[in-house]
Amino acid sequence: MTEVVADLLSDTLTRPTAAMRHAMAEAEVGDDVFREDPTVRALEERVAGLLGHEAGLFCPTGSLANQLGLRLHVRPGGEMLADSLAHVVRAELGAAAVFSGITSRTWSSVAGRLVAADALAMVTTGVGPYQVETQLVVVENTHNFGGGTIQPLTEIEALRAGLEPLGVPMHLDGARLWNAHVATGVALAAYGRLFDTVSVCLSKGLGAPVGSVLVGSTDAMAEARVWRKRYGAGMRQAGVIAAAGLYAVDHHLDRLAEDHARARRFATALAESVSVVDPAAVETNIVMIDTSSTGRSAAEISAAVGEKGVRAFPAGKDRVRLVWHLDVDDAGTDAAIEAFREVLLTR
Ligand SMILES: Cc1ncc(COP(=O)(O)O)c(C=O)c1O
Repeated sequence: MTEVVADLLSDTLTRPTAAMRHAMAEAEVGDDVFREDPTVRALEERVAGLLGHEAGLFCPTGSLANQLGLRLHVRPGGEMLADSLAHVVRAELGAAAVFSGITSRTWSSVAGRLVAADALAMVTTGVGPYQVETQLVVVENTHNFGGGTIQPLTEIEALRAGLEPLGVPMHLDGARLWNAHVATGVALAAYGRLFDTVSVCLSKGLGAPVGSVLVGSTDAMAEARVWRKRYGAGMRQAGVIAAAGLYAVDHHLDRLAEDHARARRFATALAESVSVVDPAAVETNIVMIDTSSTGRSAAEISAAVGEKGVRAFPAGKDRVRLVWHLDVDDAGTDAAIEAFREVLLTR
């Protein structure tokens, strides 16, 4: 088997560091279904505080945190609006429809970037029993399938200003909100306060092995806690994994800038040899390579670099996604540049 020299498949691949494992081993724990796990409570309070919300709820996955958020806002048969490339509509396997009876409609975007007017133009309220009513708008920041795109704060503000008079709430899929915060310097709470609920992942760029947090009002989180249990995700001595999340927030947040710099360096170096990527489009830790001019599919290119020890994800017919994280260093980045050059410059 080929030795992996750069694993750029996803930022979920990180393994807990020795220091993180130590924090996990030392964690004070209790039964969290009885709200007796001090480490889980500390994590929930910490993340809620960072995001400018009253309360948090620790969840095993980002998908669950999103789905609990969606169901808090949308009644069965009601509608959520989202970008057509949003994780909640593309990659949560129909969960909003299956679990909550939610109807989805989507707007189109370039690279997932929010244009408030496009979302607002689709909002349908006050239509009585004749049309489906919009009960939620979802924004993803950064945008995964868009290529790590950061949502402009001004557009989020414009969306909020347009929705507030209509009484339509907003949910943020902030799986990678940490990356947006580090890249822009905009405070996490400045993003967070514009939404009714926010989900964030600890298990992506921050490097925890598992875990997400949903935040919102105290009442909303109490309701989400009931639904989490109903879905079978009430956890017991979960402080062991919450400790990894706390460690990640304390020690791995600022270093996301290193991932962003390496992703940009990769794109800049590759663009010097072959025009398959625009370095200016690399805003955070994700690079999207457009293979349409190469005569080969994303799957073929991914397989070819895979033979050189670089793992990449074919995110579409002609789009290869690469994601930088804690476990890819400068040498791995150099190896990835070399592998892509060799594959793209030879046939
Ligand atoms: C934007 C976004 N939201 C939500 C999720 C879901 O996270 P999880 O895999 O923990 O369910 C992901 C996972 O990749 C994601 O990229």
